[in-house]
Amino acid sequence: MVKAEQQVALSRILLLLLGCHPLVNVLSNTEVDALYSLKTKVIDPYNVLETWEPNTVNPCKWFHVTCNNENSVTRIDLGHASLSGPLVPQLGQLSNLQYLELFDNNFSGEIPGVLGNLTNLVSLDLYSNNFNGVIPASLGHLSKLRILRLNNNSLSGSIPYSLTDITSLQVLDLSNNNLTGEVPSSGSFARFTPSSFANNTLLCGTLAAKPCLGAPAFSPLPPYAVAPTPMSS
Ligand SMILES: *[C@@H]1O[C@H](CO)[C@@H](O)[C@H](O)[C@H]1NC(C)=O
Ligand SMILES: *[C@@H]1O[C@H](CO)[C@@H](O)[C@H](O)[C@H]1NC(C)=O
Ligand SMILES: *[C@@H]1O[C@H](CO)[C@@H](O)[C@H](O)[C@H]1NC(C)=O
Ligand SMILES: *[C@@H]1O[C@H](CO)[C@@H](O)[C@H](O)[C@H]1NC(C)=O
Ligand SMILES: *[C@@H]1O[C@H](CO)[C@@H](O)[C@H](O)[C@H]1NC(C)=O
Repeated sequence: MVKAEQQVALSRILLLLLGCHPLVNVLSNTEVDALYSLKTKVIDPYNVLETWEPNTVNPCKWFHVTCNNENSVTRIDLGHASLSGPLVPQLGQLSNLQYLELFDNNFSGEIPGVLGNLTNLVSLDLYSNNFNGVIPASLGHLSKLRILRLNNNSLSGSIPYSLTDITSLQVLDLSNNNLTGEVPSSGSFARFTPSSFANNTLLCGTLAAKPCLGAPAFSPLPPYAVAPTPMSS
């Protein structure tokens, strides 16, 4: 009797010690934790995140997740999955992420500024959701980004000039939001047309096909300002 109780107590102490041991913590995986924290915030009526279980060595066998040879996440493919809820800042820890495909859902809240830490991102597709707030200027750090589609949300504020620094940018769609102010036209933005910015009624500038208030480049020279013709009477 006493022996059994002692054994139980001993095994409890052992478990407690193991739990605190640094070697046990090695088994936890930052990327599992980051993705699982997203799952805990998201409403998932069709259970597309069913395989996302917290006690896994890595997330590489989870549906909608792709890893590289080092078992680090390179893709999240959750487009058109009827998901709603916010994005979590923990996504900023997926340092090898190249494709974040979350388009055509009902994600809401702000686009987390920490996404600017994902410097391996090639494609960021958040279009057709319910995001509000501003476009984080930190996205300008995404120097490998080729595709940035944030269209069909409720984003407001101005377009950060930092985005023009992304020289690799090939596809940009910010249309159908509530953005304001002047559309930058320098840097990588030189290769885009007004369609990238359409249906943001408060945007202005060349790429918005609408002059900014008080911008001289758009107001035609008044006829009187033309140099007087020498033969005038
Ligand atoms: C989208 O999410 C909002 C809350 O952010 C909710 O009110 C709305 O019903 C959702 N729409 C759909 C189609 O799920
Ligand atoms: C991630 O981004 C935040 C703010 O955008 C910054 O403060 C932080 O240092 C970054 N972390 C890493 C690991 O780069
Ligand atoms: C975005 O919204 C516009 C205007 O409502 C609509 O015509 C267009 O089909 C939408 N695009 C996407 C990709 O949902
Ligand atoms: C769009 O933004 C303007 C100015 O920031 C604001 O007054 C307006 O209510 C917004 N519209 C929508 C539909 O969010
Ligand atoms: C702008 O909005 C209108 C009506 O909401 C839609 O028909 C049109 O396709 C939109 N334009 C773009 C470029 O999304």
